[in-house]
Amino acid sequence: MNRISRKASSFTESVIREMTRQASLHGAINLSQGFPDFPAPEDIKRAAIEAIQADINQYAITWGAKRFRDAIAAKTRWHLGLEIDPDREVVVTCGSTEAMIATMLAVIDPGDEVIVFEPFYENYGPDAILSDAVTRYVTLYPPDWKFDPQELRAAFNEKTKAVIINTPHNPTGKVFTHDELRIIADLCIEHDALALTDEIYEHIWYRDQARPSGHISMATLDGMRDRTVTINSLSKTYSVTGWRVGYAIASPDLINGIRQVHDFLTVGAAAPLQEAGVYALSLPLSYYEKLQHEYQRRRDYLLGVLEEAGFKCYKPEGAYYIITDIADFGFENDVKFTQHLIRDLGVAVVPGSSFYRRRELGAQQVRFCYCKRDETLQAAAERLQKLQIKS
Ligand SMILES: Cc1ncc(COP(=O)(O)O)c(C=O)c1O
Repeated sequence: MNRISRKASSFTESVIREMTRQASLHGAINLSQGFPDFPAPEDIKRAAIEAIQADINQYAITWGAKRFRDAIAAKTRWHLGLEIDPDREVVVTCGSTEAMIATMLAVIDPGDEVIVFEPFYENYGPDAILSDAVTRYVTLYPPDWKFDPQELRAAFNEKTKAVIINTPHNPTGKVFTHDELRIIADLCIEHDALALTDEIYEHIWYRDQARPSGHISMATLDGMRDRTVTINSLSKTYSVTGWRVGYAIASPDLINGIRQVHDFLTVGAAAPLQEAGVYALSLPLSYYEKLQHEYQRRRDYLLGVLEEAGFKCYKPEGAYYIITDIADFGFENDVKFTQHLIRDLGVAVVPGSSFYRRRELGAQQVRFCYCKRDETLQAAAERLQKLQIKS
């Protein structure tokens, strides 16, 4: 008897979590997993403590506390310019992770196809397996991580149910342009497909890059409002990845389906933290400007360190990761290089191949993350000085 299902056996351990484990084993500085090592904002923490003390401690309504859904609608109005109905077009979930899997379970039938851009955030693969989706991959090519519109068109067919978009993008830092989103949108419309957009880094993009428009939300494009599921979370914007509070926004028929799945998956997200989310989502523009400024400063610092150490860096336009080319170090592959960094230098990063289905595409890349304190980045910088380029 196979005690473990075929689906569960097909998952490999999350490479990023494995790197975090290795980092603590070897006392390495952890620049692998994308969580801040600095404190969450005091006022947001206070709002959570006050919510618990005010006894907001029982189940919230399964699809999200009314006050939090109202706050999501209000923020979506000023930030994206979209009017959404908080009672019919929002579901609150346990992080954007649950929002994505609940959405896929709600819209995919066995054999339906989803299109994923590679490199990709590692959960999308298992999400496809769990929801019985057949995955088609379309490559984002360095140095600017553009896709070939013909390749994208060729990936669409009558079985295509959805395309997953993540912008700003993990791991490349790409921010999809309006023109790129328009190409994807037109294909979705032509093939009657959905866009599932993971916009968890919506506030983290850099003004110095060639794309002054910054983050653009797929749902704001003509014809896409009703065929887009916009997925988001408190994790990155408010530096509270451990709270596990996220949400999906979509038209009422889609949200109905997602709410059903969500109810049976998790019942609901933490009630007091949703209440703290009401406070977080009401923060003024200056909060987001400061967030961007701080991450831009960290990005520029780490870029300098990495280039000095001999890495070729793809400068990120958004999110908080730097993908680098490691060919000059002369290692057989990214995994061997990563082991050297962790064991011999004491810095943990993520091997690039883990972001690709065609692993060879990432075999000379590694990803650094910089959502870390200055001291952490400086300590990593000191250790990276010992790296040697193969002459
Ligand atoms: C693109 C992307 N989506 C989702 C997540 C997970 O988000 P959450 O904490 O909201 O589940 C991450 C975390 O690194 C991510 O990079």
